[in-house]
Amino acid sequence: MAINIAIDGPAGAGKSSIAKHVSKELGYIYVDTGALYRTVGLYSIRKGIDTKDAQAVTATLKDIEVKLGFVDGAQHVFLNGEDVSDAIRTPEASMGASNVSAIPAVRTFLFDLQRDIAKNNNCIMDGRDIGTVVLPDAQIKLFLTASPEARAERRYKELIEKGEKVDFQDVLDDINKRDYQDSHREIAPLKQAEDAVLVDNSGCNLEEGVALVIGIIKEKLN
Ligand code: DC
Repeated sequence: MAINIAIDGPAGAGKSSIAKHVSKELGYIYVDTGALYRTVGLYSIRKGIDTKDAQAVTATLKDIEVKLGFVDGAQHVFLNGEDVSDAIRTPEASMGASNVSAIPAVRTFLFDLQRDIAKNNNCIMDGRDIGTVVLPDAQIKLFLTASPEARAERRYKELIEKGEKVDFQDVLDDINKRDYQDSHREIAPLKQAEDAVLVDNSGCNLEEGVALVIGIIKEKLN
């Protein structure tokens, strides 16, 4: 049986950076489920559709094929055959993803894809509802968090390094808004699963965060 590790938590908590390192060390694949919601959001944005308009977004789903591919262990996401792995990483796509993720039909649309990967592969899957909804039977569940300021600082640095012109306060406002939306939506809201280990990595750099998470996982796997 495949071993599944679920990592949930709010935006910018370090889930993907930490999970990428940990998955390499364990030889598991890393699945970033946020990329799937971002891809659905990107399609609407490109079509000029309001990502909060549930009816209009739902109507686009029949025209969308979302696929995940893994190149040297790194996840790539494809929208109707186009590799959109970079295009989904803008602040606009982040907000669009949070908006479409509150639409039940979008969650249903992406559910099987996530479940199928986990069924067939040892994986670390990160998102908002992995331990609670997508993989309730995952052998290990972590809820990774950090203070809003620490998370905004990391996102800000990432965006600046990519050459984007952003303001720190805007990044912090976006993080707070997304946290609120993601944890207050009716369907599959962001919340810690009862059997998840809470990991706060506010004061940690990446190396320390990775060590902390690997320590917990190894202890649980033994
Ligand atoms: O992890 P991320 O920042 O790339 O996620 C983008 C948005 O997608 C996030 O604001 C909420 C949504 N999301 C979700 O609802 N469920 C998931 N499993 C993953 C992401």
